[in-house]
Amino acid sequence: MQNTALITGASSGIGRELARLHAEKGGDLVLVARRADRLDELKTELENAHGVSVLVLAEDFAEPAAAERIFTRVAGEGIDLDVLINNAGFGARSLFHEQDWNEVQAMIQVNAVALAALTHLFLPGFVARNRGRIMNVTSTAALQPGPLQAIYFASKAFGAYLSNALVEELRDTGISVTNFMPTGTATEFAAISGMADTRLFRNTASPRRVAEDGYEAMMRGDMDAFGGMRPVRRFQYWLVSKLPKRTMLRIVRQAQEAE
Ligand SMILES: NC(=O)c1ccc[n+]([C@@H]2O[C@H](COP(=O)([O-])OP(=O)(O)OC[C@H]3O[C@@H](n4cnc5c(N)ncnc54)[C@H](OP(=O)(O)O)[C@@H]3O)[C@@H](O)[C@H]2O)c1
Repeated sequence: MQNTALITGASSGIGRELARLHAEKGGDLVLVARRADRLDELKTELENAHGVSVLVLAEDFAEPAAAERIFTRVAGEGIDLDVLINNAGFGARSLFHEQDWNEVQAMIQVNAVALAALTHLFLPGFVARNRGRIMNVTSTAALQPGPLQAIYFASKAFGAYLSNALVEELRDTGISVTNFMPTGTATEFAAISGMADTRLFRNTASPRRVAEDGYEAMMRGDMDAFGGMRPVRRFQYWLVSKLPKRTMLRIVRQAQEAE
């Protein structure tokens, strides 16, 4: 395989568009998600349209052993990754004390632990080759705590902090790590996380546009990047960050509530 990118959460939304972008540039792919039928469809589409090679791996990141299985399979196929994109993730709206604990654990596992595990497994190979690009798809949720989505926001802050710390650790290498923060995007995410009726999802960006922002930022080696962010929304985030913390928390909570 050549110029190979492993993309998690490639069966839908932003991940699927990232896969299309990479294939359009002639890159091979390892696609990961639970829905194998969706991944097989995408494999057929991309192999036919761009003559690239695509390996499909159906895995559930709620299972702690999934990352290790993926690494073993990729290594067994003799594939050296050039790009790792940790994109799989999901949210849920609930008061924390009412949230099902199994859901909490799965969210931490998928959004945070699997991201760290895949990065930890593949990074030594990147270091040995002194090159590679990593993009961790976090969220603008990484910018502040999120009442009514406490675990989702915390899991995204974990990904952002990990990404940024690695930038310094890898300063003298040819490896970049991009913390990519999409804004509200028109994917399956809003329905799955129960957020479709909120102000945040009134005006959404297209997954293609968001994926382009992320892919370009990753190829430039940017440390932090926003996806699909209008300037007025960026200003709002900046403004909120300057407010007293309790005021900020109330505003963020209101943004999670149904309109
Ligand atoms: N949409 C937004 O507004 C928005 C904003 C900021 C950040 N993000 C982040 O962007 C990333 C992509 O989300 P999206 O908007 O494209 O949503 P999406 O359309 O729901 O796609 C989520 C992807 O993650 C995969 N996934 C979810 N749970 C998984 C699990 N247990 N194991 C393996 N794969 C799993 C899904 O695949 P399967 O269901 O097939 O497993 C799917 O491919 C997420 O990390 C999300 O938090 C989204």
